[in-house]
Amino acid sequence: MIRAYRGELLSVDQDPRDIPHAVRYEEDGLLVVEDGLVIARGPYAELADSLSEVPIETLPGLVVPGFVDAHVHYPQTDRIASYGEQLLDWLEKHIFPAEMAFADKAHADAVAGFFLDELLRNGTTSALVYPTVHEQSVDALFEAALERRMRIVSGKVLMDLGPEGLRDTVASGRAGSEALIRRWRGRGRLGYAVTPRFALASTDAQLADAGALLAEHPDVLMHTHLAENLRECAEVEARFTQAVDYLDAYDRFGLVTPRSVFAHGIHLSERACGRLHESGAGIAVCPSSNLFLGSGMFDFGRADRHGVRLGLGTDIGAGTSFSLLRTAGLAYQAALAREERLDPFRALYLATAGSAALLHIQDRVGALEPGQEADFVVLDQAATPLLARRTHGAALAERLFALQILGDDRVVARTYVLGECAWRRTN
Ligand code: GUN
Ligand code: ZN
Repeated sequence: MIRAYRGELLSVDQDPRDIPHAVRYEEDGLLVVEDGLVIARGPYAELADSLSEVPIETLPGLVVPGFVDAHVHYPQTDRIASYGEQLLDWLEKHIFPAEMAFADKAHADAVAGFFLDELLRNGTTSALVYPTVHEQSVDALFEAALERRMRIVSGKVLMDLGPEGLRDTVASGRAGSEALIRRWRGRGRLGYAVTPRFALASTDAQLADAGALLAEHPDVLMHTHLAENLRECAEVEARFTQAVDYLDAYDRFGLVTPRSVFAHGIHLSERACGRLHESGAGIAVCPSSNLFLGSGMFDFGRADRHGVRLGLGTDIGAGTSFSLLRTAGLAYQAALAREERLDPFRALYLATAGSAALLHIQDRVGALEPGQEADFVVLDQAATPLLARRTHGAALAERLFALQILGDDRVVARTYVLGECAWRRTN
């Protein structure tokens, strides 16, 4: 079944910092989709004649690739906006009690369904997701993702030093991870990530086993947190006395690889940035979370000087919005606080192809190129009276920046998954 979509098309498939011509734009474009895949893309005037038999749907807005959230916790959905603490106290007081409830599969099912619908409502079609320590929390998420045909990467959280009721062991962590890899490998658009919670939540033996598991499975990712909060960093330094810095604590266990995604990286040394670049590992930058928990502001300048690969994450529930537009707006503000600029095309790259590259799915999604899966979002630049006024008659860069700074779920008019409308705003 072939279908075509006509509209204003925009994508950025490589970091415009490195490749100035990475922006692909058709003011009046046509996207041709067969069985969920993009088979052609170009100016409407050039492609339309060859498609006389194909139904053409006109999309009302700026069409960009579906957003890719490079770091988010689905079990924390109901703890978003929890008051008063920085990272370690926030985890103890608000998050660990909430995650304990995911021992109940029915609860996990209910939250997973709401969470994925919320991603779609915000234009996010792919994500790298933390579940909980419970094996069935991954099943709940993957089953719900399969129903919605979304591209989701996740893996049971490893935390043998977690609190009572939220703790595994090296053996149960390994057995649960292997069972999930066996059960879910090759199904739908799903992928697996070995997921040690962070250095402080696992024994050396479990970190070593996570490294071994990663080495045994070349098709899985590694996903964890890195250098987010000063007290956390001090505790890591006190425990891992042999390590030269926080990243090195992971490196010693084989956890720093091209398939590794580290959330945050707020407090990174020059050495760590150099090592991230050399290893090919990436950082999921999570500005709304970093502001909410008072963790600090990501240093784009330092990361860029070393050529560290970057993507963008909401980090719900420390993050305060499911919207990657809103997240990109806060990333701009965090960058400017250090006198760095995050231009709207690079912001779009980070929220789409950049995050997709971290997840090793850049050949499948993120740029709406022929051969890729047809996940895309229709952005309404007149979603609010203020946006309508600010974008009226403006050039593309200015309109895109207005969406980055003022936009959120309200501007997402429609979200398409594999060429099918998966969410449509009704007002
Ligand atoms: N570090 C360890 N666990 C967490 C978590 O759940 N959220 C955030 N933001 N940081 C963490
Ligand atoms: Zn997180």
